[in-house]
Amino acid sequence: MNLTRRPRRLRSTPQLRALVRETVVTADDFILPLFVSEKIKGRVPVASMPGVAQLDEDELLAEARDAHAAGVRAVLLFGIPAVKDEQASQAYAKNGVVQRAVRRLKKELPALLVITDVCLCEYMSHGHCGITEFHEGVPHVHNDASVDLLVASAVSHAQAGADVVAPSDMMDGRIGAIRAGLDAAGFEHVVLMSYAAKFASAFYGPFRDAAESAPAAGDRRSYQMDAGNALEALREVEMDVEEGADIVMVKPGLPYLDLVWRIKERFELPTAVYQVSGEYAMVKAAVANGWLDERAVVMEQMQAFKRAGADLIISYWAKECVGWLRGN
Ligand code: PBG
Repeated sequence: MNLTRRPRRLRSTPQLRALVRETVVTADDFILPLFVSEKIKGRVPVASMPGVAQLDEDELLAEARDAHAAGVRAVLLFGIPAVKDEQASQAYAKNGVVQRAVRRLKKELPALLVITDVCLCEYMSHGHCGITEFHEGVPHVHNDASVDLLVASAVSHAQAGADVVAPSDMMDGRIGAIRAGLDAAGFEHVVLMSYAAKFASAFYGPFRDAAESAPAAGDRRSYQMDAGNALEALREVEMDVEEGADIVMVKPGLPYLDLVWRIKERFELPTAVYQVSGEYAMVKAAVANGWLDERAVVMEQMQAFKRAGADLIISYWAKECVGWLRGN
């Protein structure tokens, strides 16, 4: 055959493939989520997330040190408080579980970037992400009053030393309010990473075991987004950008890759993707059955996130990925 174009030529050796590869995953791309609990001693494994555990403060430090030594540059903290109430008081308490953990991490591992998840669900007795009234069992989440508590939480995280705050609640207007609150408190340098396009997803199930944050009644569909909506996701991101988000996030990851692509193309901002607990659990279950090759399938997903336009990847596999990339 007399072909002028033979794509296979560039696929013929590992060297050529590496030379022309468009998308490269690096150790710098990863953020590791960690769960710190003040209710436990040591570590309590999360059954639906093999390899993930709730950690007390000492174990958190050990885990963060280990990940940092392996090459992970950033962690994302979630707190599990001993006391929950209907005002989420521990979410913005000076000595709350996350505030203490941040102070300790920044003191002992100053070069590790500390990101805090800003939300109220773990701190509310009813498990919703804002101030909630129930009418015949149906939750009504108040937007503006909840935003005030989110601002207080974000400022308290910044006071503890957080480098980045990441609101995951999906209340309207919270990015602008948090930016203003941070600036007024002297934290204009603290980075705001918005869970901008966060969907009401069944893929969060295992996380809610890990963070003990499942809603006691009702669901999150009145604040998290409907899975059918892409244009609305673009509007959500646009608002967060106008309100001052530095980094915008899409969550979950793999089922919403179309949005990673569209958001990156349209806004040209650092774009994060959260490979959530259910995505993790699915692969772990298949691997445990011998049905998938964990390393190969995980790295292929990471490449897919980056190919779609993600700059940052939040993943429970962050430490393993960094190790694989460094050839450990
Ligand atoms: C808190 C929050 C959730 C996740 C991140 N932040 C749970 C939820 O919205 O119910 C999910 C993360 C995961 O599934 O890995 N609002």
